[in-house]
Amino acid sequence: MRIRDDFSATRHTTFSAEHDASTTQRVAQAYDRWAKTYDSQDNHTRDLDAVILRTHGPSIRGRAVLELGCGTGKNTEWLAANCRTVTALDVSEGMLAAAGARVSAAHVSFVRHDLLNPWPVTDGAMDLVVGNLVLEHIQDLAPMFRECARVLRRGGKMFLSELHPARQLRGAQAHFTDVSTGDVVYVPAFTHTISEYVNSAISAGFTLRHMGEWLEEPQLQQVPPRLLTLQFVRTT
Ligand SMILES: C[S@@+](CC[C@H](N)C(=O)[O-])C[C@H]1O[C@@H](n2cnc3c(N)ncnc32)[C@H](O)[C@@H]1O
Repeated sequence: MRIRDDFSATRHTTFSAEHDASTTQRVAQAYDRWAKTYDSQDNHTRDLDAVILRTHGPSIRGRAVLELGCGTGKNTEWLAANCRTVTALDVSEGMLAAAGARVSAAHVSFVRHDLLNPWPVTDGAMDLVVGNLVLEHIQDLAPMFRECARVLRRGGKMFLSELHPARQLRGAQAHFTDVSTGDVVYVPAFTHTISEYVNSAISAGFTLRHMGEWLEEPQLQQVPPRLLTLQFVRTT
C-alpha cells in the first residue's frame, strides 16, 4: 500500500495558474466589485467568522494588532474598540474604502498592500496577527508565515480563520452575485489542507495552541465544518 502523508507539500488549487501578480490583480478586481454588497448580501461564512473571532478568538485588549485582508472592516471595527493599535492591510481599494468609512480612529491605519510583497511593518512590532478568510486567496503559505513571525514579538500570537478545506474540496469557493450585471463571480482561490497550514506555521517558528472547526446551527451533522480556526504562538 502506498501511503501519502505529506499533504503540506502539495498544492491543491481550484485555480490552475501559478499565483502571480495577475492573480492578485484578479482577486483585487473581484473584491472591488464585491465591496458595495459584501456586508449586505447573505453570507454565512462572513457571519460565522465574526461570531467566532469575538467569542473564541485571542485575547486582544491593549494589543498592537496586524490584520491581514481586512476587507470592509467587519472585524477591524471590533479590534479597534479593544486593541491599542490596529494596522489593517488589504489589496482591494474598494474594500478599503468601505473599511475606512466604517472605522475612523487615530490608532487604526488602513494600508493598501499586496500580502505577496514584504509587509510594511517593523520587525517584532506586533503582539498579534489576525487573518480572516484571506489565506484562501494566497497560493504559497510559507512566505505569509515567515512575515507573521518577523512582525510578531517572541510570544506574539497569530489567529487564522479560513473556509474549512473539507468545504473547499466539495467545491465551496468565495463568490458573489454582482447586482449590477447579475453575474456570479468566483474569486480566484486555493485549497490548503490543515497540515499545510500547521506545518508551514511550525516551519516559521510557531507552536499550535488551538484548532477549531465550526458550523452554525441548525446544520446537519453530515455537513463538513464551515470554518477552520488556528491559534499559534511565536516560540522561536
Ligand atoms: C473574504 S474577504 C475577508 C475580509 C475580512 N477579513 C472579513 O473577514 O470579512 C478577503 C479579503 O482579503 C483581501 N485579499 C485577498 N488577497 C490579498 C492579497 N494578496 N493581499 C492583500 N489582501 C488580499 C481581499 O481584498 C479581501 O478584502
